[in-house]
Amino acid sequence: MTSEPVVECTQLVHVYRVGSSEVIALQGLDLRVESGEMLGVVGSSGSGKSTLLKVLSGLLVSTGGKVMVGGENLNGFSEKRLDRYRRNELGFLWQETARNLLPYLSAAENVALPMRLLGAGNASDRAAELLDQVGLADRVDHRPHELSGGEQQRVALAVALANKPTLLLADEPTGELDSTTTQEVFELMRQIGRDTGLSQVIVSHDPELARFVDRVVRIRDGRVSTEHRHVSADDNGADADVDTVMMVDSIGRLQLPQEHLDELGITDRVTAELVDDVIEIRRADPRSEGDA
Ligand SMILES: Nc1ncnc2c1ncn2[C@@H]1O[C@H](COP(=O)(O)OP(=O)(O)OP(=O)(O)O)[C@@H](O)[C@H]1O
Ligand SMILES: [Mg+2]
Repeated sequence: MTSEPVVECTQLVHVYRVGSSEVIALQGLDLRVESGEMLGVVGSSGSGKSTLLKVLSGLLVSTGGKVMVGGENLNGFSEKRLDRYRRNELGFLWQETARNLLPYLSAAENVALPMRLLGAGNASDRAAELLDQVGLADRVDHRPHELSGGEQQRVALAVALANKPTLLLADEPTGELDSTTTQEVFELMRQIGRDTGLSQVIVSHDPELARFVDRVVRIRDGRVSTEHRHVSADDNGADADVDTVMMVDSIGRLQLPQEHLDELGITDRVTAELVDDVIEIRRADPRSEGDA
């Protein structure tokens, strides 16, 4: 893929201030999302995943670094431009089904709402079409509490797609679903991505995610540490070779695997030596020099 990335974060930093204390949620994160790509984001609790999505959605202004969306600098957006970005160019999907849908509206009305807010004329027709696309043609008149969790997330997906976004941001969209339903939702998202060219960033704790997305990045301590990419996934994601690489960020930093650090007892200092085409990293400990 050579076209302009949909998202490009460079050295993104976010610090939350609570009273007199600070939490560094993102510390120099680099990330590119290609056009039409379905990207999975994983990482332990507190690693900065939701913070990243909040920055990408324009809900939070990062403390430092740069975020380009569709070639434009997000931090430079006026209120009006930000509004247009959030309403027309983004779709959101949250974990809590209640946050995605209005409880007193039917599925069809929920899907039509974002289109009506933008003054679209054919909102009802398109809502019916979208609900059909997510496999809920026979549930259009159901209100959220009359739908299963998986069905509610399908409706939420239709809502997110209503204004034909270029980017879908999903924060643990299957967090409240069982594993079968989770796979159905991921499969549907993949299908929609393929059919429409939608770019997607999906945060999830579910190990199943990797089978459905093009690439998975792992965030550790507010930075992208590793990337897994399917090398030869077939259409069902079966028997895919997975290539895992570590990410060197734009200023040359690298997060070494914790198990390697533990194995060699590396706590802080190392030396890096170029030997032919290999960089050898050794524990810089005078007592054990040369044997690390
Ligand atoms: N509004 C906030 N104010 C202060 N600190 C926050 C705020 N939101 C998040 N944090 C802190 O920032 C860090 C990153 O939080 P974030 O929500 O991005 O993590 P996460 O990777 O999404 O975790 P989880 O998997 O549990 O959802 C955490 O240490 C968290 O406590
Ligand atoms: Mg989170």
